[in-house]
Amino acid sequence: MKKIILVNASPRKKGNCARALSIIAETVKDAEVEIFDLNQKTVKPCLACGACKKKDTPFCIQKDDMADLLPRLDTCDALVVASPIYFGMVNGPAKTFLDRIYPFFNPAHPNMTSATKFGKKAAVILTAGSSPVDAIENHGAAYACFDVAGFTDKKILGFNSAQSGMDQNIFSIDEDADKIKALADWLCQ
Ligand SMILES: Cc1cc2nc3c(=O)[nH]c(=O)nc-3n(C[C@H](O)[C@H](O)[C@H](O)COP(=O)(O)O)c2cc1C
Repeated sequence: MKKIILVNASPRKKGNCARALSIIAETVKDAEVEIFDLNQKTVKPCLACGACKKKDTPFCIQKDDMADLLPRLDTCDALVVASPIYFGMVNGPAKTFLDRIYPFFNPAHPNMTSATKFGKKAAVILTAGSSPVDAIENHGAAYACFDVAGFTDKKILGFNSAQSGMDQNIFSIDEDADKIKALADWLCQ
């Protein structure tokens, strides 16, 4: 059975990111799904202390929910991060989460990662109010950090509510819901 971790960066419990992730949770088959809601968890910023690069230390010396999640990120099969676009970028909780992937970064390793599993799948879902979808999806470089955690098979999907209206359910549009369902199928392959 595949293990899939769904990370929600939006503070809106019934917002577009939450809806996208629920469609994924409902669509995936033969998968164990964990939803990690960044706004309900304690995820402190990276301290850049370098402790994670020393031998015989755990993934991260901080004691918070992210430190607990790191071993599961190491061994899972797929990760999805859903973030709203705030002023052209992922929001603050999403960026803090991405920075905390740093313990996996290991330049001494040929693949630059100390992750025990390589070739895992990762998807980023970005929801916006009005930014054009291709501009939203053109964030590829930001997700290079996934490679250092062994998530090398990546997809980035952007959505905006320009058609459905600001603050409306983007995924009430069939075309958008279908893209998310297709992503869920891909995660299980
Ligand atoms: C602080 C803030 C900044 C935002 N900046 C943008 C933006 O730059 N471009 C855009 O298209 N939408 C922007 N939005 C709208 C959100 O991206 C959009 O409503 C998104 O779907 C919210 O996702 P959620 O429902 O999962 O919270 C912004 C919203 C907030 C609260």
